[in-house]
Amino acid sequence: MTKLGTFYGIGVGPGDPDLLTVKAIKAIKNVDVIIAPKTEKKDGSVALEIARPYLKADVEIIYQVFPMVKDFAESPEIFISNKEEIIKILQAKKNVAFLTLGDPMFYSTYIYIFKLLSEEKINIETIPGVPAFLAIASRIGQPIAFGNEILSIIPATADLNKIDEILDKADTSVLMKVYKNFDQIVDTLENHNMAWQAKLVSRCGLPDEKIISDISDHKDDQLNYLSTIITRKSID
Ligand SMILES: C[S@@+](CC[C@H](N)C(=O)[O-])C[C@H]1O[C@@H](n2cnc3c(N)ncnc32)[C@H](O)[C@@H]1O
Repeated sequence: MTKLGTFYGIGVGPGDPDLLTVKAIKAIKNVDVIIAPKTEKKDGSVALEIARPYLKADVEIIYQVFPMVKDFAESPEIFISNKEEIIKILQAKKNVAFLTLGDPMFYSTYIYIFKLLSEEKINIETIPGVPAFLAIASRIGQPIAFGNEILSIIPATADLNKIDEILDKADTSVLMKVYKNFDQIVDTLENHNMAWQAKLVSRCGLPDEKIISDISDHKDDQLNYLSTIITRKSID
């Protein structure tokens, strides 16, 4: 079999280009092709803009559209055709970097592509990135967990009863994807007495970053997709 190019899944962190790892920068500078994922609604790719300072002048950039689906089964054909496009590039012996926001293995579109490519005989290297919730903890100066504390990470798109159960048990909670049902999430946090000490950060590390401390007063805000809440049971 002829040798194929290598496929890199690269985490570019949440926004600040200074938060890319040295390994991520080396790989970005070395590849022939960059895959920049984007959703149908948006013109550009946030991940690409974060990585832009490190791109080679002659690198080929390919935008791949991924739908905002709840799970792969909803729309597998788009993922499969993106996978096939990547395989063709690898067959041309080119190295490819698939950029991903935050960490690639953490609630990421990359996971679907990674699983599909793992079924083929392809050399895959995944390079971790700083996940948004950890960058946010440092940004707002709030430790995420210490001692025996239990941390929960909750996609706000999950079942609300399940979210209630988890909030009951965890000391600190990170709520991701809060843009769709923010008002419901604020109500739920108020019921757990966890709203007053919550912090919401939108577009952490990007030029239009926003930090909100009084989330109950912002229940009706239209949030950006890149919004995360960190809260805890008590502040000691
Ligand atoms: C599909 S997940 C991607 C998570 C990403 N892989 C990570 O490691 O953080 C998208 C969610 O991540 C969070 N997120 C990603 N980037 C962010 C940023 N710059 N600021 C705030 N939240 C962010 C938001 O909760 C958003 O709804």
